[in-house]
Amino acid sequence: MQVIDVALPLILICSAQAFAQSQDPAPKVEPARSSHSSQSTVARNPIANAGFVGDEACRSCHQHKLDTYYRTAHRLTSQTADKNSVVGGFDEGANILKTSNPNLFFRMDENEKGFFETAVWGTPPDTWSRTERLDLVIGSGGKGQSYLFWNEDELFQLPLGYSTVMGQWINAPGYRDGIAKFDRPIIPRCLECHATYFKALEPLSSSNRYDRTNFVLGISCERCHGAGREHVVRLSSHPPAGSDLAIINPAKLSRDRQFEVCSQCHGGQGVRELAPAFSYVPGQPLGNYIDLGPVDPKADADVHGKQVVLLEKSRCFQASANMSCATCHDVHEPERNLAAFSQKCLTCHKVEKCGMYPKLGSEIASNCIDCHMPNQESKVVFVDVNGKKVNPQFRTHWIKIYPSSSPSQPQ
Ligand code: HEC
Ligand code: HEC
Ligand code: HEC
Ligand code: HEC
Ligand code: HEC
Ligand code: HEC
Ligand code: HEC
Repeated sequence: MQVIDVALPLILICSAQAFAQSQDPAPKVEPARSSHSSQSTVARNPIANAGFVGDEACRSCHQHKLDTYYRTAHRLTSQTADKNSVVGGFDEGANILKTSNPNLFFRMDENEKGFFETAVWGTPPDTWSRTERLDLVIGSGGKGQSYLFWNEDELFQLPLGYSTVMGQWINAPGYRDGIAKFDRPIIPRCLECHATYFKALEPLSSSNRYDRTNFVLGISCERCHGAGREHVVRLSSHPPAGSDLAIINPAKLSRDRQFEVCSQCHGGQGVRELAPAFSYVPGQPLGNYIDLGPVDPKADADVHGKQVVLLEKSRCFQASANMSCATCHDVHEPERNLAAFSQKCLTCHKVEKCGMYPKLGSEIASNCIDCHMPNQESKVVFVDVNGKKVNPQFRTHWIKIYPSSSPSQPQ
């Protein structure tokens, strides 16, 4: 089966959403004790949200989890722009994106001051240009990246992104080919899914103004486990103070609450914010913080960013009491092995039960995934580049029988 798997991100956030105006509860802030944190993941003066202590505070007791977690897409999903984080190429030849507009091209440059994106309009000798710096990177680069720049305290997206799958600079998803726009604001919901914390300067969910000294990049342990200060304090005393570990283990939550830990970012963009970004506390009902929209089992759910909704449509999920994301994923380490995932299917299924077994034999055991969870094109995300529109592919989480996976069906 051919897997094109062209990637890319959400444009969702950019659609003019009527997010409710919300009140900033002025969270109590606590300096992160993260002396070892690499510069690329923590702002110069790191202060995170209430009770957060930062990943490095977990190292002394959970060393192995940190080592593997630091290589995951979650942890790497936002970084400051540098040699290691930017996946796009700056060498001559690879650093130009021509557009369908003969009067516009883009150039990417690297120098001792950093990385820069320039739009050049006109025809020589009459040209003019605008240059902005790549300040922050969004996306681990597994599929692609978007780049952000600061203008004072306002955060904007740059018009070019990079597609790892296509191996080139592209018009960022949702941007039209042939125009250069530098005014797309980065609103809190975007950062809420791709970072640990940003201190907003205005309570508006449509605002792109942030405290440039108060943000934490990458998704940290505490986004899924809740604030860790109390846990660290209790477990550091001898003997440990009290029997309550004072930290959320999602495995011990009800299945709904457990899903919500992931739904805060994998349940779609949502239709209305009920509380400020970054205020959700794992274990609490997510519905108090964000309205993810009506739950309609019949409605189409896009493969991009809606894994929770799709999984819930699956017979596997509906017919088993305890299937969760953790049935297949260990989010503490990078995972890329389809054969290993197939073993997870076999914890509930027998390979002989698959209708293709009589024909294909036990070799199907190494890849249930491409037939029952195929990569599918997103209908909402597209990349407009080189004169054509490309819809990136994502792994669907609607586990079922896809007619196209049967050899008797024409492909
Ligand atoms: C001083 C040592 C120490 C530090 C620091 C520490 N932990 Fe723990 N943690 C423990 C111990 C001990 C346990 C209990 C282990 C067990 O029961 O297997 C534990 C258990 C946990 C659990 C499982 C809780 C449960 O109910 O099953 C989670 C989740 C956790 N820690 C997360 C964190 C995070 C996140 C951090 C950093 C913010 C952190 N820990 C920092 C010692 C520590
Ligand atoms: C704070 C937001 C957030 C939370 C919470 C979150 N995710 Fe993610 N997740 C993301 C983002 C963003 C990406 C894409 C990262 C990238 O490649 O840049 C991602 C990627 C992933 C991937 C793909 C990893 C890869 O290697 O490409 C898996 C699997 C995943 N998440 C599972 C989960 C599960 C399971 C949970 C709940 C236990 C969860 N996530 C909670 C935001 C989140
Ligand atoms: C994307 C969400 C997410 C992130 C980020 C995350 N965890 Fe977890 N963690 C989980 C889930 C879900 C479970 C329960 C897994 C299960 O059901 O077995 C868990 C379980 C644990 C446990 C208890 C079970 C065990 O394996 O020992 C510890 C300890 C833990 N996590 C520590 C950490 C530390 C330390 C970090 C940061 C380096 C971290 N986690 C980051 C989601 C997350
Ligand atoms: C509701 C949560 C959510 C919001 C809001 C969101 N994203 Fe994402 N983003 C994800 C998830 C989840 C993934 C990876 C899995 C997927 O696409 O289903 C992802 C993937 C990406 C990737 C590709 C990463 C890679 O290498 O695979 C980029 C780039 C990206 N997003 C940029 C953005 C930008 C820029 C914004 C805001 C303007 C944004 N996203 C808003 C959740 C979100
Ligand atoms: C937690 C247990 C569990 C896991 C893990 C699991 N399934 Fe299932 N699955 C089920 C149950 C239960 C059913 C319903 C069986 C029935 O209706 O007889 C089912 C149904 C199915 C069906 C029939 C779907 C339909 O619409 O008729 C397929 C195909 C399937 N599973 C494939 C997979 C694949 C592939 C994986 C791994 C990616 C997987 N399952 C993982 C429990 C599981
Ligand atoms: C039955 C097994 C199974 C379950 C349950 C499961 N996943 Fe996955 N997931 C997979 C497989 C297989 C992949 C593909 C991995 C690959 O291609 O390397 C995947 C990939 C992903 C990706 C990357 C998608 C992409 O194309 O970029 C995300 C994000 C993700 N899962 C999130 C989740 C979340 C959130 C949950 C819980 C709602 C969940 N998964 C439950 C098996 C599962
Ligand atoms: C080459 C593609 C392919 C592979 C690989 C594959 N399947 Fe299937 N599977 C199918 C098709 C097609 C059907 C429907 C067959 C039919 O209706 O006769 C099916 C049916 C099923 C069913 C439903 C059986 C029923 O009677 O309801 C289950 C469960 C299942 N597969 C699980 C798996 C598991 C688990 C794996 C990996 C060990 C796997 N499949 C590998 C294509 C595949």
